[in-house]
Order: sequence, then structure tokens, then C-alpha cells
Amino acid sequence: MARITAGVTTSHVPAIGAAMDLGKTEEDYWKPVFAGYEWTRQWAKENPPDVVVLCYNDHGSAMSLKMIPTFAIGIADQFQPCDEGYGPRPVPVVEGHPDLAIHIAQSLILDEFDITMMNELEVDHGLTVPLSLVYGQVDKWPTKVIPIAVNVVTYPQPTGNRCLNLGKAIRRAVESFPEDLSVQVWGTGGMSHQIQGARAGLINKEWDHAFIERLLNDPEDLAKVPHIEYLREAGAEGIELIMWLIMRGALGDKVRELHRFYHVPASNTAVGHLVWEPAA
Ligand code: DHB
Ligand code: FE
Repeated sequence: MARITAGVTTSHVPAIGAAMDLGKTEEDYWKPVFAGYEWTRQWAKENPPDVVVLCYNDHGSAMSLKMIPTFAIGIADQFQPCDEGYGPRPVPVVEGHPDLAIHIAQSLILDEFDITMMNELEVDHGLTVPLSLVYGQVDKWPTKVIPIAVNVVTYPQPTGNRCLNLGKAIRRAVESFPEDLSVQVWGTGGMSHQIQGARAGLINKEWDHAFIERLLNDPEDLAKVPHIEYLREAGAEGIELIMWLIMRGALGDKVRELHRFYHVPASNTAVGHLVWEPAA
């Protein structure tokens, strides 16, 4: 049987990708950001999953106002990088796992999560920056990836509770796949940040730390937080944090923390990063 072996969350700031792609990781501004991922890179080498179910949001790079799926799953063999701004990053193509992806889609839909199936999907910094942070600069990503795209960009976004429950449903889906696979679930985006408008640059360290504690110890209560609180306390783009609840739901009731990192700022964002595993 396939099983969920770990959960990872991380911010997905595009400037972090650019810092790697342009060889700036040793600069004073960036060094402390990448230092927070050194532990994870070692852990990732020692604990290679077969598949990462990677929850992220598209930022109007591959998707647009033409169609706005609330939840979408990539079921293709491959996903090409794409991006806003300067265009696609120079990173390897992302290899999918169609068999597990289709199984997850079937399990979710029969479980009444009507996820959109994407036979074609290009993936932006929301997905490629987390891969770069965890695996560094490589010729080929060391794991297969099933992208789950969540609409956090256009109102109405799904609730935190829906995301927590989606994570639980992903766990049921993975555990009913007959092949023996190690599967990680990643939640990306956040933490507090607002990149436009009068409050651009907003960071709320206190709220971010409290969010992590609640995610660890009382996700059911955290799932009740309404969108307006994310916007008010964590900034307009802080709403990306609802994707961390998908990771939390996938880990089960009790989790063990392996690594936690928080750093302000990277670009306009408070960088948060967690590596957790299900506790027996
Ligand atoms: C920034 C952060 C994001 O999550 C994003 O998608 C775009 C920009 C930033 O801090 O610059
Ligand atoms: Fe983002």
C-alpha cells in the first residue's frame, strides 16, 4: 500500500528562484534564507519519496480568468515550467505519476471532492521554487510530482476547512493505492505577505508563529479562520496559507515536528518552512 511519510510546507517566493537561477545564494541578503533549508536538503537526500503531492497555486501563469478551477490535479506524464515576469525558470521538467494521480482523482471525486483533472498543465514558481529549495540545482528532479493547484488568487477561494478536509481525503486516496509507494504532501505559499496596494510589504510575525502552533496542535480550530482574517492579519497574499492545511490534513491526527524555519523577509514575504511527519 502507498503511505504518507511526511509533510513539507514552504513559501514559494519567485525572487528565491531567481536568486538560485542567477547565482546569488551566497549574497548577504539571501544567505540566511537558504541556511534555513540546509537541514531539509540533507533530510531529503536520506528520505527520498517516490512521489510528492505538491499543493500550490498558479499565479495567472498557466491559468487565467478564463477558467478558475477551485482544485485541479495534474494527471499528465510531464509538466513544463512556466512563469509570470521573466518567463519559465531554467529548471528540469517536472515528471508526473499518472497512475497515482488518476487514482487520487477517482478517490477524491467518489469521496465528493469534485477536483478538475488536468491532462495538460504548466507549473509556475508556486511549484518549482519549493522543489528548488528542497532539492537544489539538479539536472533532474529526484522525485515524481503530482501537482494539485488551488485557487487562492480569485475570490471566492475554498475555505480553510475545505482544504483540511481535502488533505484528509488525499490521505484516504493514497492509502488505498495498492503499490508500495512513499508519498509526501507539500503545502506551499505564505506566510504573511502583501505585494500590492496601500499595505504592500505587510508582515505579521506574531500571527505567523501562532498559525504554525495552531496548525500543529489544533488544525480543526485553525480551519475555522475566515478568509477575512487571513487578509487582515497576513495580507492579501497571506491567504496562500490555506494550502498548508491540506498538508496538515494529509498527515493524520498527530504529527512530529522534524524541522521549523522562519525568516523575514525574502522579497515581500515572511518565509516559513516546516518538515513534519505523521506520529504513530
Ligand atoms: C512574492 C511572493 C509570492 O508568494 C508570490 O507568489 C509572488 C511574489 C513576493 O514576496 O515577492
Ligand atoms: Fe505566491
